[in-house]
Amino acid sequence: MDKIRFFGEQIAHLIEELDFRKEPPELYDPIAYTMNQGGKRLRPLLTLLACDLFGGDIQKALYPALSIEVFHNFTLVHDDIMDRAPLRRGKETVYKKWNSDIAILAGDTMFALAYTYALKTDAEIVPEILTVFSKAAIEVCEGQQYDMNFEQLASVSIDEYIRMIRLKTAVLLGASLEIGAICARADQNDVRKLYQFGIELGIAFQLKDDLLDVYGDTEKFGKLSGGDIATNKKTFLYLKAMELANNRQNKELKQWYSQNTTIDPNHKIQAVKKIFDELNIQNLTGETMTGYFERSLAHLDSVHADATRKDDLRLFATQLFNRTY
Ligand code: IPE
Ligand code: IPE
Ligand code: MG
Ligand code: MG
Ligand code: MG
Repeated sequence: MDKIRFFGEQIAHLIEELDFRKEPPELYDPIAYTMNQGGKRLRPLLTLLACDLFGGDIQKALYPALSIEVFHNFTLVHDDIMDRAPLRRGKETVYKKWNSDIAILAGDTMFALAYTYALKTDAEIVPEILTVFSKAAIEVCEGQQYDMNFEQLASVSIDEYIRMIRLKTAVLLGASLEIGAICARADQNDVRKLYQFGIELGIAFQLKDDLLDVYGDTEKFGKLSGGDIATNKKTFLYLKAMELANNRQNKELKQWYSQNTTIDPNHKIQAVKKIFDELNIQNLTGETMTGYFERSLAHLDSVHADATRKDDLRLFATQLFNRTY
């Protein structure tokens, strides 16, 4: 069995073994519902692959990896409230299935659970792991706030957008790798390079997420198609379109993005998508995404580690880059 599959199964087993269901059920059922849904579980995989890259014992990285996955799932439960999203992983979001109060409290509990799992490794590396983890957690919140601020702003630059997705998404991929490398007691210089690999890969990852939000297949992607357009998200697609738009397109886009049409957004989504298509936005986003992906691989190349193990990470990054969900 290949390493990516093997590590994926280790994480899946660990999550299956944990029983999230406790009393009161109103608090724990949504946690179990979220954790047992799956998802790609790419962040814990990055942790295990990074630990293995430096010849570490992945058993020592399993709980820290789980910790990051639980944290990630917490951010999604809260993100869906902020984004008014009805669907995730093909199922109703927690705040829709239950309500926002329940989603807030389930999320809070998951955040604390994440810390308890992060402690379950060699005591001497716990402070370093928690330092990396907490820094990333704070930065994710900063990114999420910028994301919401941008919904209300008429003008956002592409640079500001990249800074925002670096915070809301990329730092957690970087931290996942960094924590795996810490579990293997890797050299500081290599840890920094691996973190940079995660940052660039994370930016490419979010660009792909933005692309799939418009052009993905809802069945596979598991989220409502066009949700970012409905909620006036200043994604790369929108910002690039604004940069290239003629007068008519500029006026139309501005008009659509000044409206809150989440109740029946289909007309808006179709109209915006038509302008995106006129401006070749899908390909242009793909090109920018490819640039970040290639830079990420250059960082990985510069890490001093076993070439075959680097191949595992390169392969995994390529799978993420080519994903359809
Ligand atoms: C969704 O993350 C949030 C983003 C940062 C785009 P994933 O795409 O990793 O979600 P799951 O865990 O696989 O469902
Ligand atoms: C989410 O970005 C990033 C975090 C949850 C921190 P999105 O809002 O694009 O993620 P999805 O598309 O809902 O998964
Ligand atoms: Mg969001
Ligand atoms: Mg969202
Ligand atoms: Mg998204």
